[in-house]
Amino acid sequence: MNIDKLVRQNILNLKPYSSARDEFKGSEGMFFDANENPYGKLNRYPDPYQNDLKNKLSQLKNIAIENIFIGNGSDEIIDLTFRVFCEPGKDKALTFSPSYGMYEVSANINNVELIKVPLKWDFQLDIEEIDTYLHDENLKVIFLCSPNNPTGNLLNFKDIEYILKKFQGILILDEAYIDFANTESCLSKIDQFPNLLVSQTFSKAWGLAAARVGVAYANKQIVQYLNKVKPPYNVSQINQQAAIKALENIEDFETKKTDILKEKDKLISALQKMDIIQRIYPSDTNFILIQVENANKLYDDLVDKEIIVRNRDKLVRNCIRITVGTAEENQFLIKAMNQL
Ligand SMILES: Cc1ncc(COP(=O)(O)O)c(C=O)c1O
Repeated sequence: MNIDKLVRQNILNLKPYSSARDEFKGSEGMFFDANENPYGKLNRYPDPYQNDLKNKLSQLKNIAIENIFIGNGSDEIIDLTFRVFCEPGKDKALTFSPSYGMYEVSANINNVELIKVPLKWDFQLDIEEIDTYLHDENLKVIFLCSPNNPTGNLLNFKDIEYILKKFQGILILDEAYIDFANTESCLSKIDQFPNLLVSQTFSKAWGLAAARVGVAYANKQIVQYLNKVKPPYNVSQINQQAAIKALENIEDFETKKTDILKEKDKLISALQKMDIIQRIYPSDTNFILIQVENANKLYDDLVDKEIIVRNRDKLVRNCIRITVGTAEENQFLIKAMNQL
């Protein structure tokens, strides 16, 4: 597969910005090159390629640094993918629905048509339907989200693999919630599939949503194009350090993740006893999708009690998405729901 052929002509021709840190890469010396303020602690521009953070990730995930791209949250990775591969007003992308809303927003911002194929009744991919689009030569990118938001389930790997084998464009596999799922990430598949980009984030299981650090794992060429297009200093020094610190404390990560998963089970048990709930969807994530008789009313009733859940009625009829909180928060929610 020739990745260059999928890239927009203007990006192929682009002469990227060369920052002061691109031109002199060392850390020792007296710096007069970037018009920085000589005083202070945050006065210097950060490493544009986040090498310390990538080193840590490389060790943890057993993957080469050249296969890692760091974004300002995975939302930036979604946007950059459109900018690298999709010619506005001409090329197309495809995703399924319901899924994470930013694929559509980013497609609209970039003036790229987004085909949305509905999921089947079991929230799995409708491969027959997707198949009809795979040979469209303007279809450049497919976004798959597994585990999916807001439905909470993992997609069947054999379906992902089918698309990877057949599709001649880029497949973005959004694994924002993979750490909560009882399964392996697909990032080990990037060697086998040059068109696969696996996107992960520090915003969920790593507990760093405020820091805005997303990670793409992909073949070297894709990473090079993302680097070519990204703003030079896309991830701040503070954010890089926050992610490095988290990676240095894997025990804390594991403990919190285990706690969240235990709390999820307890929350599900409590929800199962509530008459107002018609259905609890299986979850491979840190949230639970429930179906009730009237989601709008439940949402408003909970807001009145200063409890904020996510009303997903417009995506999945009468469904509410509940993120697992601390033991205390969950108890508060359960009590409030039992009083309705
Ligand atoms: C599936 C999915 N992908 C990506 C994101 C955004 O992640 P980030 O905070 O890394 O931009 C979210 C956030 O809710 C999400 O649900």
